[in-house]
Amino acid sequence: MNFRVTGVRAPAGVLVLLCFAAVARPQSNDETPKQTFQRVCIDCHGMEMIEGKHYRRELWQQTVEQMVRRGARASGDDVQTIVDYLAANYAPTRIHVNSESAAELQLDLPITLDTASAIVRYRQDHGDFKSIDDLEKIPNLNPAIVKENQDRFVF
Ligand code: HEC
Repeated sequence: MNFRVTGVRAPAGVLVLLCFAAVARPQSNDETPKQTFQRVCIDCHGMEMIEGKHYRRELWQQTVEQMVRRGARASGDDVQTIVDYLAANYAPTRIHVNSESAAELQLDLPITLDTASAIVRYRQDHGDFKSIDDLEKIPNLNPAIVKENQDRFVF
């Protein structure tokens, strides 16, 4: 008997919570995550700033927070929605470090075009990279970035 009462109560409690959530929802949450992203982010610059970038979640979080400091108009909920959207749709990919161009490398890692060019130059001067150790010899390439992305490099 006790068991049955509990069984009925739990869903009712959930239902009450759901009702509250529905009432508390601001109008703008009718948007899809993509629409939230477009509303907030395609403002000062276009998609070209984002297209081709493949960051891990923490880096998207930092990037979005930086944009908010720069003036992007996003509520706390918007920030979370956008970070989730970007983490899912612009996630890290494999880095073919022996064949990618400098422009491609720059999109794969949080590095400048100068550093990306240094990677390509090093490859041209010394032959293909064979391991992470080789990457750590490149001038200006922060070893912390190499380490954080070590599982993504394909040799
Ligand atoms: C208030 C204006 C503004 C808004 C809104 C804005 N940005 Fe930016 N964003 C900038 C500026 C300024 C730069 C720097 C441009 C440069 O470096 O040439 C930039 C650069 C970037 C870059 C490239 C540099 C990096 O850190 O990787 C990315 C990616 C980016 N923005 C993503 C976003 C995303 C995602 C949003 C939505 C949350 C957004 N931006 C909204 C102003 C804005």
